[in-house]
Amino acid sequence: MGPSSEDSINVDAVNLIANEIKEIRELGVDVAIVIGGGNIFRGVKIAAKGINRTTADYMGMLATVMNSLALQDAIEKIGVPTRVQSAIAINEISEPFIGRKAARHLEKGRVVIFAAGTGNPFFTTDTAAVLRAVEISAGAVLKATKVDGIYDKDPMQHQDAVKFPLISFEEAIIRKLKVMDSTAITMCMDNNLPIIVFDLFERGNIKRVVQGELMGTLVTSEQNINLIKGGTVK
Ligand code: GTP
Repeated sequence: MGPSSEDSINVDAVNLIANEIKEIRELGVDVAIVIGGGNIFRGVKIAAKGINRTTADYMGMLATVMNSLALQDAIEKIGVPTRVQSAIAINEISEPFIGRKAARHLEKGRVVIFAAGTGNPFFTTDTAAVLRAVEISAGAVLKATKVDGIYDKDPMQHQDAVKFPLISFEEAIIRKLKVMDSTAITMCMDNNLPIIVFDLFERGNIKRVVQGELMGTLVTSEQNINLIKGGTVK
């Protein structure tokens, strides 16, 4: 969710994302979402200022619950049923995370929003997304973010940064690329789960990615990359 001047929930951004999610639901695609909390609370940043890291991470997880509820509200307002499942017991507000139940919700055409990360400190939202993706046997992890792919160096700081259209899991780990942490990428590698990193804020991007358009950066196995380069996989 994009940063706003008040550094909290940007309702316009939430509505935009909700509409894009509706569009892909209408294509018949099962959608499960893991959302971060950085717009409200960035645990690592606060920890650096002296709050205990574990505490700061739990606070960050609570921030993701708020974002999840905001997104649930926006998606349901436009007629798409959703369920929020939280990794931290918060039963008055959302159902608990139960993988099998999440799978049933998806079968019934509901968008499932996973809140509170993995429920553990020291794990990022990316790792939570990959963990949930593996648990529900997702076909891919789509990382919609504020950069339009993975670069060899920070494109905000270096004008000559080069974007990778394709990169293998191994290379992404070796290069210690900032856009996704190594725990998340390693888990994708172990489960052969591709990741697509792309720009969240360009209208229609989520739909284009879901329809198979190669954009942003695809992180996948060496074997897949060779197949794509050989033109076998589109
Ligand atoms: P099916 O009956 O399997 O189709 O799924 P369902 O989600 O409609 O059934 P369920 O009876 O589990 O849930 C009904 C409503 O209560 C849904 O909106 C759920 O999200 C919500 N719900 C279920 N469990 C909990 C919970 O532990 N806490 C909260 N706050 N809501 C819950």
